[in-house]
Amino acid sequence: MTPPHTVMPPPDTRRILIVEDEPALREAYAEALGMQGHAVLTAANGEDALLVLEGNAVDLVLSDLKMPRMGGEEMLREITLRGLSPAVIFLTGYGTIESAVNCLKLGAADYLLKPFDMHQLFKKIALALASDSRLPKRGSRVQEIEAFSERLRGQKDSSEVFKALLVQVKRTLTPTAMALFSCSGQAGALTPLFLWGHSFRECSRTRSWLLEKVALAVGQSGSMVLGPQLGKRAEDLREGLSLGSAAVVSIVGMRGVYGVLALARGPEAAPFTREDLRMLNVYTGHAAPFVESILSRQRFRGIRAEVVTSYAQAVEAKDIYTRGHSERVGGYAALLGRALGVTGRDLAILRTAGILHDIGKIGIPDGILNKPSGLTNEEFEIMKRHPVVGRDIISRVSSLEAIVPLVYHHHEWFNGQGYPTGSRGEDIPFLARILSVVDGFEALTSVRSYHEAMTVPQVKQTLLEGANRQWDPAVVKAWVSLLRDDALPDISEFKNTPIDLH
Ligand SMILES: [Fe+2]
Repeated sequence: MTPPHTVMPPPDTRRILIVEDEPALREAYAEALGMQGHAVLTAANGEDALLVLEGNAVDLVLSDLKMPRMGGEEMLREITLRGLSPAVIFLTGYGTIESAVNCLKLGAADYLLKPFDMHQLFKKIALALASDSRLPKRGSRVQEIEAFSERLRGQKDSSEVFKALLVQVKRTLTPTAMALFSCSGQAGALTPLFLWGHSFRECSRTRSWLLEKVALAVGQSGSMVLGPQLGKRAEDLREGLSLGSAAVVSIVGMRGVYGVLALARGPEAAPFTREDLRMLNVYTGHAAPFVESILSRQRFRGIRAEVVTSYAQAVEAKDIYTRGHSERVGGYAALLGRALGVTGRDLAILRTAGILHDIGKIGIPDGILNKPSGLTNEEFEIMKRHPVVGRDIISRVSSLEAIVPLVYHHHEWFNGQGYPTGSRGEDIPFLARILSVVDGFEALTSVRSYHEAMTVPQVKQTLLEGANRQWDPAVVKAWVSLLRDDALPDISEFKNTPIDLH
């Protein structure tokens, strides 16, 4: 509930932020504008003003130009880069009029020369609030950055992100040559990904100069502009290397440097400015997190593939009769799944589950696993625990969550007489029903501690006899129709296919 002494501003009240380092002036402006019916916020410099703007909807900023910590011009650039939308009016003395004019070019709504009377100020404010003429200029830059971000969002490969960055930079900053290096490994080794323009592609001296600058940029994780304004270094540049100016910027993410981008313009073109460099930093700053997340996703997938392989190896190391069993069941499951119309991620889930389905055997004593004769009832009860143990192991690995139901249900029977839950028919997950058929096929066609290998026609017969009882008849039918004569199905196409559940 609103306290009774608080006066709520009328609904059409405009919010004005006064940015002025001189406290007496700040208060005087605040009082005058408050009396005009505006809601007033204050800040003592550009830096504080940005904090206020990030947290409040402000219609207009009234700002001094010369202030400690951050002046008006830098504040305006930040307002633009951050996509904030207030109109900005600068209050300026004769000493800073050039800077005020510059601010107009950067998108300020207006400026007012000191000393001024309050009526002039009110008039400027009213005009600025009524006019939207400054918006398209700033809006188009912001829109361009937003559109660039949107393009990056759709990319799945870091090289595609780099390509989008190059297209954007080429269009906005019109270089005559560009080079992009990717940066990887702890030593930060640079790999040229892209060289464009005569001066970088064909001139080896320019290229070695570039590499020196690039190495420096990587070392400093920063950026630089080289050009006429930098004196002798620029002279070297122009005379020795036929470049007018250059800009080099690192592509820096949270966890390191991912690349370096270098641009050059010829001597006849306008040199790069600090503003160009700032824009370059905005674009690379937008691209870096995308590169970072793509690379870490790829790394994560690599780790996941290693986990799967080492789990499968752990089972096979324990169970001497099942060498290669996991990989074969994975391949068969993928083959049969595909024939039954399973695609994409489901197919990857099926193959991975095929490789890992017996992971729970890690928890079964060796004496039972490798027993040459039949198991006693008691031993069989212990053996039957492996799908449950498997489920418990796999469910601790969040990235493998999707295969848990397959691992858990791979010994269910279609008639409900399997284990561990006794589920029947279509209550058993479809992918688990597929896995069950190829697991049975693989076991029967291999030498086990308790039986010799059967021929493919013999196994076909066994599967058909077990349809409707142990296995889903439709799945058995599909598998049998895939089998040719006495040969085991060819799964070589899956041998080097990475495991990817993404
Ligand atoms: Fe099993």
